[in-house]
Amino acid sequence: MSETSPPRVIPLFDLRHDSIPVPASAGLASDATLPSGYLQDTRGRPLRDLRISVTDRCNFRCSYCMPKEVFDKDYPYLPHAALLNFEEITRIATQFVRHGVQKIRLTGGEPLLRKNIEVLIAQLAALRTPHGEPLDITLTTNGSLLARKAAALKAAGLQRVTVSLDGLDDSVFRQMNDVDFPVADVLAGIAAAQAVGLGPIKVNMVVKRGTNDHQIIPMARHFKGTGIVLRFIEYMDVGATNGWRMDEVMPSADVIQRLRAEFLLVPLEAANHGETAQRWGYATPDGQHDTDAGEVGVISSVTQAFCHDCNRARLSTEGQLYLCLFASQGHDLRSLVRGAADDAALAGAIRHIWQGRSERYSELRSQLPANTGTDVGKRRVEMSYIGG
Ligand code: GTP
Ligand code: 5AD
Ligand code: SF4
Ligand code: SF4
Repeated sequence: MSETSPPRVIPLFDLRHDSIPVPASAGLASDATLPSGYLQDTRGRPLRDLRISVTDRCNFRCSYCMPKEVFDKDYPYLPHAALLNFEEITRIATQFVRHGVQKIRLTGGEPLLRKNIEVLIAQLAALRTPHGEPLDITLTTNGSLLARKAAALKAAGLQRVTVSLDGLDDSVFRQMNDVDFPVADVLAGIAAAQAVGLGPIKVNMVVKRGTNDHQIIPMARHFKGTGIVLRFIEYMDVGATNGWRMDEVMPSADVIQRLRAEFLLVPLEAANHGETAQRWGYATPDGQHDTDAGEVGVISSVTQAFCHDCNRARLSTEGQLYLCLFASQGHDLRSLVRGAADDAALAGAIRHIWQGRSERYSELRSQLPANTGTDVGKRRVEMSYIGG
């Protein structure tokens, strides 16, 4: 942060338990007979991607996500009993898959801090879509434990990983993670993941103007030609504790301009519907995509909203279903799985909730007062709680 920055105001609200109760009878009628495989929300968006946060803890303190001043030793992390256990997670995920989910991403906090995470991965890897296909199972990690765990994750059925890495320069990286963690250990984790075949590996770099934007080119040079896909993410106003300011956002258009000063790039088609990243391929002098050199991506959550085809649902560490990264309330699925609801009731509740979904925060951002949630006046939950 520059010396001229205004003092940071850190509001201390705890929204984690402010959930919307889900009546067990919601949508019960038809679901016992109807594994639809296809649901639509009020804007015609299907449900395809489920992100499951398995812990609200992390061993890093990135200032844009878990600033030290808030997430200190007194921070009230969730007690163990509040967390969904692996059987509960798998039971809920099974119903999401019946409704069309094809990709499951485990997140945190730092998901590799959850004990025996490979047991959960094995349970999820056994699930099949209504068409009998396996799921795309992936995980977002800060990479700190990856060197140690890559082989076990692969053996359990994990297909690929996305590693967060905000710079290559050791001092910049230590400053970004704010716990003095060395970059070499994350690079060793990425190498281990690559060696056991946890790919295609993606690397996510959140760009904060003035803090790590000078790392854009070194990062691109480093990963070009490695088969690893580097993506640059616009710093978002997610949560309520990171002191977000628009002048610290580096628009993706600027990132691409900088890259083009050094590399030839050609735009590529989206690989999947609802994809968050815009893809750019390194090009040969005649303007063709050089597949050996690979590609980079930009995720423009702030300057170019991608809500129109957002097919992502988020399950928080304690079993709240969030319909948007910027929501201020989740729907309480844990009460259903810990109560009398059977699988049909659970599936019915998920259908009912998704069919009522209208969230599109990023599209509305510019019209809303600063740092409030989709419900104007309410604050948002933290990303470490609902997952990236
Ligand atoms: P794959 O391409 O399948 O690996 O998935 P992805 O691109 O959705 O992956 P990832 O979880 O790595 O998302 C990258 C980053 O994009 C996240 O860390 C967020 O910063 C941002 N992001 C992901 N999903 C959303 C979303 O639904 N809304 C917004 N505004 N940002 C998102
Ligand atoms: N802006 C953009 N991305 C964020 N992440 C967390 N907080 C933010 C933020 N404020 C994402 C990063 C990180 C992942 C775990 O969550 O991509 O890699
Ligand atoms: Fe931890 Fe990832 Fe958040 Fe950084 S961005 S504090 S590594 S969960
Ligand atoms: Fe989806 Fe909400 Fe992100 Fe828009 S802001 S893309 S609706 S999660």
